Amino acid sequence: MTPIIHFIFDQHTEELKKEVIDFWLKEKALNEEQANQRASQIAFIAREREGQLIGVSTIMKRKYEPIGKVFWLFRAFVAQKYRQQGVVLQLISEAKTKLNNRFNAGKDPDVIGILLKVQSPILMKHFPQATWPRTQFHYVGIEDGCHMRISYFDGAMIE
Ligand SMILES: CC(C)(COP(=O)(O)OP(=O)(O)OC[C@H]1O[C@@H](n2cnc3c(N)ncnc32)[C@H](O)[C@@H]1OP(=O)(O)O)[C@@H](O)C(=O)NCCC(=O)NCCS
Repeated sequence: MTPIIHFIFDQHTEELKKEVIDFWLKEKALNEEQANQRASQIAFIAREREGQLIGVSTIMKRKYEPIGKVFWLFRAFVAQKYRQQGVVLQLISEAKTKLNNRFNAGKDPDVIGILLKVQSPILMKHFPQATWPRTQFHYVGIEDGCHMRISYFDGAMIE
């Protein structure tokens, strides 16, 4: 399926936050306290054609100590009914484009790329490539049993 992805970071309305919190709770993705905290980090939402919310990703600044640089830590959740239809791949690829553009417009210049903490055992097993072929995320280590992967923004500097 081709979901419609919206980039809504910095443009949260109370209505949208409520919709996302209700989605996470209904899908048992997070408990109420976690959902309320995470709502300020909503960055991308995926909707199916009729407008129903089917996936949400959040971002937060996180220094990745082994590299010593700050990244957007990207998290995603897709509704059970809409899994294995490419929704998370769309969310990741849209995040790469939009956050890269934002970086190149001079916003949050301290954040030089995207960090994924791949928690899903299925995704870790299904995608063992050092560099993911479609999204170009590079394996950089393991944290809490999860694969850590990064992608730098175009023109990112380490000094
Ligand atoms: C992990 C998660 C985000 C994947 O979302 P998704 O939209 O179903 O993923 P996609 O459909 O884009 O699939 C990406 C790839 O993984 C594969 N995949 C995803 N779920 C799979 C499953 N249960 N079994 C086998 N392969 C699976 C897909 O087939 C696809 O590979 P392909 O294109 O080579 O066929 C979703 O299952 C989820 O929300 N899980 C709970 C929250 C979670 O674990 N979040 C952390 C993400 S690291």
